[in-house]
Amino acid sequence: MKAIVVADQTAGAAGMTLVERREPQAAINDVVVQVHASGFVPTELAWPSTWSDRLDRDRTPSIPGHELAGVVTALGYGTTGLSVGQRVFGLADWHRDGTLAEYVAIEARNLAPLPGDVDFAVGASLPISGLTAWQGLFEHGRLQAGQSAVVHGAAGAVGSMVTQLAREAGAYVIGTGRATDRQRALDFGANEFVDLETDALEDVGGVDLVFDVIGGDIGKRSARLVRAGGRLVSIVGPVEARPADVLTVDFVVEADRPQLSEIVQRVRDGRLRTNIGNIVPLDDAVAAFNATKRINGKTIIRIRP
Ligand SMILES: NC(=O)c1ccc[n+]([C@@H]2O[C@H](COP(=O)([O-])OP(=O)(O)OC[C@H]3O[C@@H](n4cnc5c(N)ncnc54)[C@H](OP(=O)(O)O)[C@@H]3O)[C@@H](O)[C@H]2O)c1
Repeated sequence: MKAIVVADQTAGAAGMTLVERREPQAAINDVVVQVHASGFVPTELAWPSTWSDRLDRDRTPSIPGHELAGVVTALGYGTTGLSVGQRVFGLADWHRDGTLAEYVAIEARNLAPLPGDVDFAVGASLPISGLTAWQGLFEHGRLQAGQSAVVHGAAGAVGSMVTQLAREAGAYVIGTGRATDRQRALDFGANEFVDLETDALEDVGGVDLVFDVIGGDIGKRSARLVRAGGRLVSIVGPVEARPADVLTVDFVVEADRPQLSEIVQRVRDGRLRTNIGNIVPLDDAVAAFNATKRINGKTIIRIRP
């Protein structure tokens, strides 16, 4: 099969190559999926799991990509809940070969059925950003109707999902980002926008929740925006500034079939818009990942035309 692999951690996206690889086998409780479309988060080339296994052994050359939509072609020993020929989408294991390939072996529990009226490219754009938004807002952030939330990077892949889901849940959303992101963040439903390059973030005060996708200095300054008893949820590592009266949580997204189904249902009925910037075929994927031009929204790789 065709697959994109990486072997040199220092090379970044320039080290990606399209090669021929053996098709994967389904292990216990796995399925093999013929991948129709794949998502890719550029920062995954910096994640240790791209380079080593759970025992910290080198696993290169490894196949990146952790989001997929496709069709089940084989079941592993003891696999239940999915069937051959079924359309699925979901989140692949961080430590296994991923989804920038024609086939992937993946635990069935990481997948949900993809309804027939949802395009594979749309399905592949949802797992990481959709599940991260859902879990950050409702499990870790405990967001309630009537509360207020600062959503950093509100025009980005995760932030645009956070903004939409928070608004649907009845929250007041203050989106942030660069000046050029203002209109896109407002279009995704932010009630207000703070331009992090020129506006004073500190003018926002007393919110119930901050959802941080940026970290660094923005993360440090964000803790002071949360009211006593509120929460700061980070998806970019541990929060350095931890005021005593604010609960801070950092987490890594997990696969969840019921949540995937909730998310795709919202896309079908128009409550949730995807944030796809570019769809490219597998043969052009390496060039797309190395492009210098800024793309608004996710790049999705269409593996099967
Ligand atoms: N823990 C988890 O489970 C998890 C899950 C998903 C993603 N992540 C991480 O979360 C981060 C965001 O992911 P994403 O896919 O949403 O990325 P993305 O699509 O690039 O969105 C990030 C947004 O924030 C903006 N931004 C970044 N730094 C900024 C700054 N200093 N000032 C103003 N705006 C800024 C970006 O603008 P520019 O493009 O102009 O920089 C972009 O609009 C990544 O680091 C990713 O690895 C973690």
